[in-house]
Amino acid sequence: MIPHKDYQDRIEQVLDQILPDRGATLGKANSNNLNAAMRYSVLGGGKRVRPLLVYATGEALNIPVDNLDAPAAAIELVHAYSLVHDDLPCMDDDDLRRGQATTHIQYDEATAVLTGDALQTLAFNILSQPIQGVSAENQLKLLNILTTASGEKGMVLGQAIDLAAVGHFIEEQQLEEMHRHKTGALIHASVLMATYCHASQYGVEEETRLESLREDLRIYADAVGLAFQVRDDILDIQSDTETLGKTQGADLAAEKPTYPSIMGMTAAKEKLYQLHDKAIYSLSGFGEEADLLREIAEFIVKRIK
Ligand code: IPE
Ligand code: IPE
Ligand code: MG
Ligand code: MG
Ligand code: MG
Repeated sequence: MIPHKDYQDRIEQVLDQILPDRGATLGKANSNNLNAAMRYSVLGGGKRVRPLLVYATGEALNIPVDNLDAPAAAIELVHAYSLVHDDLPCMDDDDLRRGQATTHIQYDEATAVLTGDALQTLAFNILSQPIQGVSAENQLKLLNILTTASGEKGMVLGQAIDLAAVGHFIEEQQLEEMHRHKTGALIHASVLMATYCHASQYGVEEETRLESLREDLRIYADAVGLAFQVRDDILDIQSDTETLGKTQGADLAAEKPTYPSIMGMTAAKEKLYQLHDKAIYSLSGFGEEADLLREIAEFIVKRIK
């Protein structure tokens, strides 16, 4: 259903190798709960949309796939950490994630907090090791992009706004700000990081061309990033727990402001299609090399989980 099984298999293997205690079985561990919980939280589920965006952007820019594994893994590790913390009782208090018990239920709260911490650190450890094919200067860029998108100007800020908004009515503009930060920031970073995964500075002409494509890709990433969370809000109402792999109706129960709750379901869907069209239009300067990005945009607005 989601585009491109090859990249999906690839990222599963990369993550499996990066995570500690390879070969250990998933689930409750006796000796080292932390390592087991890290594997549990990352492997065995997840659509891998952010790594796919890294690979698809690389494809659109003709960047060798080997250059993209580290940023693809790093973004998924940050995403997984954000989910582990998002599910904690002090945040969304959810019991189910990716069709299995959330990390704090499977282990305990302290282990879940530490698992999130360790996944985040691992992400930046991976990204700071030399990446063959990517210049040191560009690698610093990758670190800068991902730290900015993850922290108090990005995802973490979005989560803080989300928690503060519980039980309150907020305007559409504030809701959009929240969604752009909590979800859009990491999706934007997935696309933007891939645009820096090359070896050296290009010549002036090529650099100018790349900068112009980068601007188009930023528009694409902003549109699909917001669309992703609008669809997530819609699915909380329209899907079911088994399909979602997380508890349906959780937003409503927690009195979270969402697109359907603020503007109504019809307007939320209209917004989704507008964002899809904007994303597709932003890729007009690309040929078939951006087809996977187009497919991902379509997947994001039509997905059922
Ligand atoms: C869930 O993200 C949290 C949001 C940002 C909406 P995903 O829907 O990408 O979750 P997984 O990784 O596929 O489980
Ligand atoms: C999650 O938003 C955003 C992050 C984890 C950063 P949600 O709280 O809506 O995600 P789900 O619905 O629990 O997956
Ligand atoms: Mg949340
Ligand atoms: Mg949540
Ligand atoms: Mg949600």
